[in-house]
Amino acid sequence: MATYLLFLIIAASAFSTLNADLSIDCGESDIYADDYSMGWVGDENYIQHGEAVVVQSSKSVSQAMTTLRVFTDRKKNCYSIAAGKGSQVLVRASFFYGNYDKKSSPPSFDLLFDGNHWATVETSGDEVVSHEVIYVTKRDTVSVCVAQTSPNMFPFISAIEVRSLDEKMYGHIDSNYALMLRRRVAYGTKEIIRYSDDLYDRIWVPAINGGDFTVLTSDESFIDVSLDDNPPGAVFKNAFAPNSTSISIQLGTNLPATEVPIYMNMYFSEVSVLDSTQRRSFQLYIDGKSTSNPFIPSYGKAGEMYLANFSASSNTNFSLVATSVSTLPPLINALEVFTVSDELTDGTNRDDVEGLASLQNEFDVLGDWGGDPCLPSPYSWDWINCTSASTPRVTALYLGSFGLSGFLPDFSSMTALEIIDLHNNSLIGSIPEFLGTLPNLKQLNLANNELSGLIPSSISKNTKLKLVVTGNPDLCVSGKSCKTASADGDNPTFSSSSGKKKKNNQPVILGTVIPIFVLLWVIGGVFAVLHHKRKSAATTGANAGQAGGANRPNGTPQAGKMQMPMQMAANNMAQNIVNDFRVNIQEQQPAQDQPVDQNDQQNQQGGGY
Ligand SMILES: *[C@@H]1O[C@H](CO)[C@@H](O)[C@H](O)[C@H]1NC(C)=O
Ligand SMILES: *[C@@H]1O[C@H](CO)[C@@H](O)[C@H](O)[C@H]1NC(C)=O
Ligand SMILES: *[C@@H]1O[C@H](CO)[C@@H](O)[C@H](O)[C@H]1NC(C)=O
Ligand SMILES: *[C@@H]1O[C@H](CO)[C@@H](O)[C@H](O)[C@H]1NC(C)=O
Ligand SMILES: *[C@@H]1O[C@H](CO)[C@@H](O)[C@H](O)[C@H]1NC(C)=O
Repeated sequence: MATYLLFLIIAASAFSTLNADLSIDCGESDIYADDYSMGWVGDENYIQHGEAVVVQSSKSVSQAMTTLRVFTDRKKNCYSIAAGKGSQVLVRASFFYGNYDKKSSPPSFDLLFDGNHWATVETSGDEVVSHEVIYVTKRDTVSVCVAQTSPNMFPFISAIEVRSLDEKMYGHIDSNYALMLRRRVAYGTKEIIRYSDDLYDRIWVPAINGGDFTVLTSDESFIDVSLDDNPPGAVFKNAFAPNSTSISIQLGTNLPATEVPIYMNMYFSEVSVLDSTQRRSFQLYIDGKSTSNPFIPSYGKAGEMYLANFSASSNTNFSLVATSVSTLPPLINALEVFTVSDELTDGTNRDDVEGLASLQNEFDVLGDWGGDPCLPSPYSWDWINCTSASTPRVTALYLGSFGLSGFLPDFSSMTALEIIDLHNNSLIGSIPEFLGTLPNLKQLNLANNELSGLIPSSISKNTKLKLVVTGNPDLCVSGKSCKTASADGDNPTFSSSSGKKKKNNQPVILGTVIPIFVLLWVIGGVFAVLHHKRKSAATTGANAGQAGGANRPNGTPQAGKMQMPMQMAANNMAQNIVNDFRVNIQEQQPAQDQPVDQNDQQNQQGGGY
């Protein structure tokens, strides 16, 4: 009991330090604090679908990795987490298979966020795979979804971490794009650096020193880190440097083989007070061309260079080269490498989201459908159909045999609907007038419900509409005498269970369907959307400058992905990571005479994505 209380207190304090930040342990129902004093909560308040299971692996993993939630149906399954609209967040999703199904067959599947494709997750038999994205939210929820891509490969998820970032961080990019992490490394440290050294809980992995670099340690214990990107002071305690000014530092980027838009931050601090004869200055070279002004790291103070608006691949050579006047070799303390996403979607049409939300509010069985209703294609909710526009419209509701009971709410805002199938439910009350005025509606199947009253004239006069109302015993249709006085004389030309067939009464049988709970979406404000074409925004020229003096961009985040060894949360993980990387490095050893700071933390699984 005492322990439990203590955990509660720790969890609460972690939360207060980190605002609304949240760590969700999927498949777990308790709350607890981990080795980093981060508070974790179970996932039951964030999702109602899927099955919670415990992994089999005997390998020691952090507690968050010992349970997971697996999904055996639906195109996609989504967690929805409240977040302020327009806030910059870091979202990390982690996956540890742990042979939970005893099939020794780690699956692959898609990972989505807020209606955008995030990554294809290739899970591993014995390692934790993580993906990280940084972006500015467009609505007031963050959704994280997994979607099945192959038969018999059921998507699962082990943990979701959401951290709010300061809006000035990662600002050299338009807020319509996300940053996907490829590599975040601290040079010369022995252990992983994260919360509470890093208040934003970014995970800085120790770089591997193949022996080419000297590890420098700062003489200064307090380092001024007042940079827009708020790097943790801990990463400035150590640095890598080559032995001689004639040797440059080639940066390992873990970028994919094909060229992609990237975003890169490099962090520097001088390690000792230089005497009058000493001078350290260096420049960033990209493929042999100088692309920055000389950079002179300050003692006791953090400095930064960034690279944005640039495209690169695993073949691009990023090097820090001493200038001709430098008497000391280049050094580096830390590095972050991201790829830049495609332009983020604004999501499904707001009116449709609102209409779906009213259905979800009315019918509980629809409540546990989350994430964007239509996006990304083809992962719409199972019970709707959508157009393929960039802001999709909902064209069909397939809610037959869904166990809906009660009155139909007003979803008249869904003006793109062509097909509404609500047959075989327990709908009561009269048929809403608005169904007859939906401008594009072609098929309306209300068969086998408990609807009553008159068929509204909007429907009965709508000659474009194929209506089915059979199996509603209390409905007034032509040929049947109704208790209520006939309000409008013209009766429908449709058949009912008790009526005469006058016209087309073929039942429209559509698929099953249902939900939405989109209160969140409904609210979603209009985020200023600059329609930059992603290519032009992302690939234009190199732009390396000193962060301190550079313009601040209007905040925008990006997302990243990485795969980490499963011991991530254990204190001895640095060693494990090193070993994993060594294996990897040998496979990918580039032929070169220049030392490469190589540890591609993300490529343990043979090439990543
Ligand atoms: C990136 O390039 C575009 C177009 O060339 C430009 O408008 C934008 O300001 C650049 N962004 C940054 C951060 O340099
Ligand atoms: C760098 O210097 C250290 C110490 O002088 C030496 O042990 C190491 O071999 C040198 N490395 C290279 C690459 O020259
Ligand atoms: C990378 O660029 C640096 C600096 O221009 C150069 O010294 C080095 O040889 C290059 N390395 C490779 C592998 O091309
Ligand atoms: C969804 O709509 C598209 C055209 O808008 C159509 O081709 C497709 O067959 C529809 N899907 C279903 C399941 O009805
Ligand atoms: C009607 O819906 C129920 C579920 O609500 C289902 O069990 C039943 O099979 C359906 N009947 C038909 C004829 O589809």
